[in-house]
Amino acid sequence: TSSMKPTCRPELFDFEGISMVHYFTDNWEKVQKFQARPNDILIATYPKAGTTWVSYILDLLYFHNSAPERQTSLPIFVRVPFLEAVFPEMPTGVDLADKLPNTPRLIKTHLPVQLVPKSFWEQNCKVVYVARNAKDNAVSYFHFARMINLLPEPGNWNTFLQSFMDGKLVSGPWYDHVTGYWEKKQTYSNLHYMFFEDMVANTEHELEQLCSFLGLSTPAEERERITKCVHFDVMKQNNMTNHSSFSHMDFKISPFMRKGKVGDWKNHFTVAQNERFDEHYWQKMKNTTLQFHTEI
Ligand code: A3P
Repeated sequence: TSSMKPTCRPELFDFEGISMVHYFTDNWEKVQKFQARPNDILIATYPKAGTTWVSYILDLLYFHNSAPERQTSLPIFVRVPFLEAVFPEMPTGVDLADKLPNTPRLIKTHLPVQLVPKSFWEQNCKVVYVARNAKDNAVSYFHFARMINLLPEPGNWNTFLQSFMDGKLVSGPWYDHVTGYWEKKQTYSNLHYMFFEDMVANTEHELEQLCSFLGLSTPAEERERITKCVHFDVMKQNNMTNHSSFSHMDFKISPFMRKGKVGDWKNHFTVAQNERFDEHYWQKMKNTTLQFHTEI
């Protein structure tokens, strides 16, 4: 039923110890040398943790009132460039970032913490990290890999889940990604670590926390307005946030704005998969203080 040719799918390979496809490594020299500015804000996530959601929140916090045409004519993936991306028929993430007219620049990355360009740390840039519980993150990633032809074929759910556990997916192991930024936060105070589950449970409270981290004195009523704009149903209808203009996705297979729920993993994991996953999870996560909610 897919209109995408399997031959279009890129190969996975090891890059600096991380599984990658060429779409995120083709511009590596320029990515590594990227010159961050002190007021840049880096939005860092493992794929499918809520990147678009927090990107849109930040975009509205900074530019809701000042740039109305931005909200109606520029898709979120242009407003918030994807730093390491080199996608067909699109400017590179670095070029998009370099040409952004706005201050602050909002820049997105899925790179693990050790591969983030040095200049972000040197400039003491604010970093917003969003983490999502492993089970829902894996489910969301599976459906996403089915519908976007810039990632390898996900195979069936069982093999995909195994690849997730093995860290053999683009951006590498989820476990190292979430704990890597968690550890970074202990020494780098300009990092705000958020959870997808908290955003679902209480968006307004998360917005308030975000404002306080960013040093914004956004009035409560403006925060309320933004909370409404970033509701799942509203973002799903909004052509600037639902990726409908992104040409490498097949929305017949799965929508980009798919479910937006905590606990959808229960509809995917078998009892056996869940047991196997839990056992492996505690091995991987036994040395960290980082904890997740898998339901709310
Ligand atoms: P699901 O596939 O579970 O629905 P990313 O932006 O990092 O690619 O993450 C995408 C995931 O975030 C998808 O998860 C998507 O539905 C969810 N998402 C995006 N906007 C959301 C919102 N406003 N509320 C809840 N979930 C949202």
